[in-house]
Amino acid sequence: MSRFRRPFAEALAPAVELPVDEVEALLGTPPRPEMGQLAFPCFQLAKTRKQAPPAIAAEIAGKVRATGAIQDIVATGPYVNAFLDGRAVAGDVLPAVLEGGEAYGRLDLGKGRAVTVDFSSPNIAKSFGIHHLRSTVIGHALVNMLEAAGYRPVGINHLGDWGTQFGQLLAMWDVCGDEAELEKRGIEYLLELYVDFNKARDVNPALQDVARAKFKALEDGDAEARRLWALFRKVSLDEFERVYGMLGITFDDMRGESFYEDLMPAVLNELEERGLLSESEGATVVDLEEYELGTALVRKADGSTLYLTRDLASAQFRKDTYDFVRSLYVVGGSQSLHFDQMKKVLELMERPWHADIEHVPFGLMRFKDRKMSTRKGDIVPLKDVLERTIALARETIVKGAEEKGRELPADLDELAHRIGVGAVVFNDLKNRRVRDVVFDWDEVLSFDGETGPYLQYTAARIASMEARHGRPITADVDFALLDGPGELALVLALADLPEALRRGIEAGEPSLVSDALLEIASLFSTLYSNKEWKVLSDDAALTDARMLLAHGVRQALCNGLGWLGIAVPARM
Ligand code: ARG
Repeated sequence: MSRFRRPFAEALAPAVELPVDEVEALLGTPPRPEMGQLAFPCFQLAKTRKQAPPAIAAEIAGKVRATGAIQDIVATGPYVNAFLDGRAVAGDVLPAVLEGGEAYGRLDLGKGRAVTVDFSSPNIAKSFGIHHLRSTVIGHALVNMLEAAGYRPVGINHLGDWGTQFGQLLAMWDVCGDEAELEKRGIEYLLELYVDFNKARDVNPALQDVARAKFKALEDGDAEARRLWALFRKVSLDEFERVYGMLGITFDDMRGESFYEDLMPAVLNELEERGLLSESEGATVVDLEEYELGTALVRKADGSTLYLTRDLASAQFRKDTYDFVRSLYVVGGSQSLHFDQMKKVLELMERPWHADIEHVPFGLMRFKDRKMSTRKGDIVPLKDVLERTIALARETIVKGAEEKGRELPADLDELAHRIGVGAVVFNDLKNRRVRDVVFDWDEVLSFDGETGPYLQYTAARIASMEARHGRPITADVDFALLDGPGELALVLALADLPEALRRGIEAGEPSLVSDALLEIASLFSTLYSNKEWKVLSDDAALTDARMLLAHGVRQALCNGLGWLGIAVPARM
C-alpha cells in the first residue's frame, strides 16, 4: 500500500494543512473494500478547527481532486476515503512482481553496511533445548531479512563454552565421569551429569566450592581440565550441528565465550584506569546504581571473569572486526538487565557505538503448560521436536495420499522435512516475538489456520495451476479484468511486501513479514474459495490475467517464506 499512500497524502496535505509526512503517517485502511482502500481520519483536526470530524471530512473531500491511481475521494463519516483504480494498481504492481521474480520485495536499504546478529548461542554441555529454538529461528529470519534489504548481515553464534557450569561438570566428572559413556551417549550424558551435580549439591553444598575451584583450574590452563573441556565442547557441537543442518542454518562467525579469555585483562585494565571499578564483598563490580541498573559484576572474588566481562570484550571485538552499523542480540527477555548493563558500561567507556547495540528479546516457549527447565532436566531437546514434527508431517502426507487413492510422492522425505520444519519455524515467527509461544503439535501442523503448512500449501497449489496452465506467464494482460475489490485488496497486499520487510528490519520483528504473508494468502483464499472465481477457465484473456495475479501470490509467498527461513515445496 505504501506506494499509493504517498500520492494520497500529497493530494490531501494542502486541504488538511499538515505536512505530507504527517498526513501519510495517519493513513489507515477502511474496514471493508467497498469503503475504499485508504482512509484519513479527521478526529485530530477537530480541536483546532472547532468542528465535528464528519464536517471536516466533508470539507476536505470537497477540496481534494482525485488523480492518477486515485479514482475517487469520498467523505465517509469522520474519514476521508480514497478509492484506488484497480486496473491502474494491478497494472503497476503485477508486472513489477513478475519481473522482480525472486528479487521481488528486496530493498537496497543497507547499502552493504554490516549488521551483526548474535543468535542461537546455546550453551555447551547442555542440550540444545526448545528454549534455544526461538533465538535460532528469530535470528536466522533477521539475518535473511537484512540480507534481502541490502545489508551485510553477520550471523554470530556466541557459544556458551566458558563459565562456572564447566566447573560443575568437571566436579561431577571426578565423581563418576566415564569417557566410554560420553562417547556413546554424547550430550545427553553431559546433561545428566549436570543434573546430577545439582542434585548432589542440594545434599552437599560444599560441592559448589569444588566446582568453583575446577573452573578456576580450567581458566588457569590445567591440562586435564582443558582436555575434558575440549571434549565436552566437541561432543556438544556435533549435536548442535545436526540441528542447524535440519534447519538449514549456517553462521558466519562461531566463536565461543572462551575465545575472549585472553582479552579479559585489557577490559579489566581499562575499567580500572577509567575509575569505573569498585569492590563489593571481594568481587569487582561496576556500580550502576545511579542509572538504576544495579551493580554489574565483572570479576569474582576468586579472580574468574563473568558472562558480562566476556560480552564487553566481544562487543568491542565485533565493532573492530565487522564495523557494524547495528549490533543485534537475539536473546530471551530474561537477560534484559544483562544487556542494559553491558550497554551502560560501554557508554561509560566512551564507546559511541554503544547506541547501536540492540537487545532483541523474546518470550518463552511452552508445551501447553509445561515450562522447560534445564536445571531440573525436564527438557525437550529441539532435535526430538523437529524429528517428531517431521514424522507427523510424513504421516499426514501418507494418509492424504491413501484417502485420495494417490501414489506417494517420490520426494516424500524431502516434502515431510520441509513441511515439518516450516511448521515449527512459522509457529514461532507468526506472533510478536515478545509474546510467549505455545507449542501444540496439532495446531502447528494444520493445513488451515495461520500455519507454515497453510502458506506452503497455498504456494504449492498455485504452482500446480501454473503447471496445468502450461503457457508462460506474461504481464501483457488486460488489467481491467482484475479490478474487483477482492483482486484490488490482494494486489495491494502484494505491493506491501517490501514495506513489511522494511518495518520488520527496523523493529527486529520477523512477524511483520509473517503478517504480510498471511494477509496475502488469506485474500487469495477468499477469492479462490468463491466457486464463481476460477483461475483457469476457457476464457483465455481472463485466465492470463488471473494467472498473473496468482503467480504474484506464489512469488510473494516464496520470497517472504524464504526470508523467514522456510522452504516452499514445489508441490504438496
Ligand atoms: N549462551 C547464552 C544463553 O544461552 C546466550 C548468549 C547470548 N549472546 C551473548 N552475547 N550474550 O543464555
